[in-house]
Amino acid sequence: MNPMDEFIAGIPKAELHLHIEGTLEPELMFEIAERNRISLPFKSVEAVREAYQFENLQSFLDIYYAGAKVLCYERDFFDLTWAYLKGVAQQNVRHVEIFFDPQTHTDRGIPFETVICGIHKALERGQKELGVSSKLILCFLRHLSDTSAMETLEAALPYRNWIVAVGLDSSEQNHPPHKFDAVFHRARAEGFLTVAHAGEEGPPDYIWQALDLLKVARIDHGVRCIEDSELTKRLVKNEIPLTVCPLSNVELRVFHSLAEHNLKQLLKLGLKVTINSDDPAYFGGYMTENIQETQKALNLSKTDIYTLMKNAFEGSFLNTTEKQKYLNELTQWMAHYSSQPTEKIASGCC
Ligand code: HPA
Ligand code: ZN
Repeated sequence: MNPMDEFIAGIPKAELHLHIEGTLEPELMFEIAERNRISLPFKSVEAVREAYQFENLQSFLDIYYAGAKVLCYERDFFDLTWAYLKGVAQQNVRHVEIFFDPQTHTDRGIPFETVICGIHKALERGQKELGVSSKLILCFLRHLSDTSAMETLEAALPYRNWIVAVGLDSSEQNHPPHKFDAVFHRARAEGFLTVAHAGEEGPPDYIWQALDLLKVARIDHGVRCIEDSELTKRLVKNEIPLTVCPLSNVELRVFHSLAEHNLKQLLKLGLKVTINSDDPAYFGGYMTENIQETQKALNLSKTDIYTLMKNAFEGSFLNTTEKQKYLNELTQWMAHYSSQPTEKIASGCC
C-alpha cells in the first residue's frame, strides 16, 4: 500500500451518513433470502452486482427497496448491522451514526420493534466487543405522506432513548422539506435532534427549508449548496456539517466522475465537509475506499484528510467529552505520521 493509502487506512474515522439497509451485501441478501424462503429476482450474487447500474437516485432506490424485502426478523436486522460494524471496525471507524428507514419494513407488516431491536442489539455489541460507538437516526421516507411519517414518529416514541435524531431520505425531487414541517416540529418537541437529505438532486432552496423549517443540525449531501452564495455563507457561518458521499454521488450521477466532484471546493469555502459511504454495498466502497478514491481524484493533502475527519468527530452527536477522546486519537495519529522522516503534515507543504 502506498504511504497515503496507509495514512488513510489507519486514520480514526467517524461515519455520519450511512443507511443500514444500504449495507446489505449481495452474499448476505442471498443468505437471508434463503433462510426466510423469499425468492429474489436475481439468479446469483454476480447477477445482483451486475444490476447495480444506476441512472439517478430513483433508479437506485427501486433496487434498494427491493433488496430490503429479505429483512423480516430481528435476527436479520441484527446480522445486517453486525456485519457492517465488523467491517468498518477493521477500517478504524471509531464512531457511526446510522440511518434506518422503518417505513420500508413496517409497510410490509414487519413490526417497528423487530427492526429497532435487531439494530440496537448489534450496536450495543459493537460498542462492547469492537469499541465502535454509535447513534441511531430514524429517517422518514419523503415520497410517503406526512401522515405516515407522523405515525412512524409515534411508533418510535417508546424507543426514544435509542434514537438520537430524525432525518429525511428517499426521492428528493418534488418532496421538499416543508412537507414534513409539522412532523419535525413534533420530533423536536419530543427531544430529537434533526437532520435531512437536501441538495443531493434537489435545489438549494431545499437546503434553506431544511435549515429554516426543520432546524437541522446537519445537511446530508448538500453538494448543490454551491449554486447559492448566500446559502454557502449561512452554512459556513453556522458551521453546519455537510455529510458528503463521494462514491454515491458518482454512482447516482450527481457528478460524472470523482475528478469533477466539488468536495475540495466546498472545503476551500470553509464548509464543514465530512466524507461518508451512504449505501456502501451498492456504491462500491466503505469509508476507507471513499476517502482513498476521493484523495486520488482531487489530490487531497493529508491536512485536507485530517480536516475531513476532524469535522466528522466535531459534527457528530457525541457529547463534548466523547468528541475530545476521539479528537485526541486523531491528534495522536497525526503526530505518529509527522514524526516519520518523509512525512510532513503540519507544515502546510502537502
Ligand atoms: N438519498 C436519498 N435517500 C436515500 C439515499 C440517498 O443517497 N440512500 C438511501 N436512501
Ligand atoms: Zn443518504
